[in-house]
Amino acid sequence: MNSIRGKWALITGATSGFGKATADLFAKEGCNVIITGRRAEKLEALTNILKEKYNVIVLSYCFDVRELNKCVEMANDLAEREIVPDVLVNNAGLASGKNKIHEGLIGDWEKMIDTNVKGLLYITRSILPMMVTRNEGHVINIGSTAGHIVYPEGGVYNASKFAVKALNEAINLDLVGTNIRCCSVDPGAAETEFSKVRFHGDEEKAKKVYEGYEPLQPEDIANIIYFIVTSPVHVNITNLVVYPTAQRSFYVWDKK
Ligand SMILES: NC(=O)c1ccc[n+]([C@@H]2O[C@H](COP(=O)([O-])OP(=O)(O)OC[C@H]3O[C@@H](n4cnc5c(N)ncnc54)[C@H](OP(=O)(O)O)[C@@H]3O)[C@@H](O)[C@H]2O)c1
Repeated sequence: MNSIRGKWALITGATSGFGKATADLFAKEGCNVIITGRRAEKLEALTNILKEKYNVIVLSYCFDVRELNKCVEMANDLAEREIVPDVLVNNAGLASGKNKIHEGLIGDWEKMIDTNVKGLLYITRSILPMMVTRNEGHVINIGSTAGHIVYPEGGVYNASKFAVKALNEAINLDLVGTNIRCCSVDPGAAETEFSKVRFHGDEEKAKKVYEGYEPLQPEDIANIIYFIVTSPVHVNITNLVVYPTAQRSFYVWDKK
């Protein structure tokens, strides 16, 4: 096993869902964490909890991954502190709206493409060179089963996650000859703030997404990321797809 104790993990979108659970698990295992998100009060609360519970170093950066200069500023600040992340979890992302393409809201499209694709690229471009210089590191990209199969009214979210799949493959190809590993973790339905965000804050609509079956939980994804990262350094898992047992595809469910 490849221990993460005493190492540094940078996790984007750590104010809720997968990112928060991953920060908690990594800190529990003795890893110092760098957490990001836009909601300052949530970042501050998580920072205090992790420090108190696990006695690790926690750095937090409050910014929007759609802003390239903020991504670069964080990377520069880490470099000044002589911190090179051992693990980068490109998790910040969202679905916004669920509409037919011909009825879609341009603002929703821009949010998804700018966050899920360009934000992931901005962070990767800012952090990966440090890993390459050190010839060490692990990039985890959070994709989705939505990046494997298109579903009605999900087109632009699907396209953004197909892009993550392509970029994950591209990063792997470009890193040949280095010790840096890269994997996309692609979950099916998981109970987080995802649906509340997708439905623009409509909690009732969001709740319905998780009714009648047992969805994945944020901790399930954190455990999977931990397994991938702690696998021996000669093992490069490049893609891991995970559904709840009651969901076998977007189209095949066992709902009570
Ligand atoms: N839940 C699912 O069913 C599911 C399935 C497959 C894939 N995913 C993917 O998993 C990832 C995490 O989502 P989740 O399910 O954990 O949802 P979540 O609970 O809504 O968490 C999303 C995180 O991303 C951050 N974020 C969103 N936009 C951002 C931006 N522009 N700049 C910085 N941070 C931003 C949010 O923080 P702030 O709001 O504080 O900025 C939050 O911490 C996403 O990439 C999502 O597409 C989710």
